[in-house]
Amino acid sequence: MNVDFNLLMDKAKDASKNSYSPFSRFAVGAAVLASSGNIYQGCNVENSSFGMTICAERCAIFKAVSEGEREIRAVAIYSPNADSCYPCGACRQVMYEFESDVEEIEVVTENLGQLEINKLSYFLPCGFKI
Ligand code: THU
Repeated sequence: MNVDFNLLMDKAKDASKNSYSPFSRFAVGAAVLASSGNIYQGCNVENSSFGMTICAERCAIFKAVSEGEREIRAVAIYSPNADSCYPCGACRQVMYEFESDVEEIEVVTENLGQLEINKLSYFLPCGFKI
């Protein structure tokens, strides 16, 4: 599958505009490319009860899975507040759950306007799956 990383990053940037982050003021957007070719966007959604906050990546992944997707091919993550917005540990594990057996998920971030592409195993070596 040919992945348009620029398009995926543009979708993550778009999604970051919907971020609900009045507490941290740290907006994040994510875009998930499923093996079907469909793209799902997500943003971080915070809550007055801080622990209820969900990250942009998990928001997008859960949207994809709830629409019937089971395999993720690539995830783009963007924050207007920081370069290289890498996924948190919880999101890395959730991504790993939906990695195909034949192709690793590619994680796309941006640093100083340049796309950075890493395999999920760079962020999560020896991931856990039942
Ligand atoms: N956040 C994400 O959306 N994704 C990450 O991978 C790291 C953190 C959000 C959660 C919270 O709303 C804000 O960034 C500050 O932690």
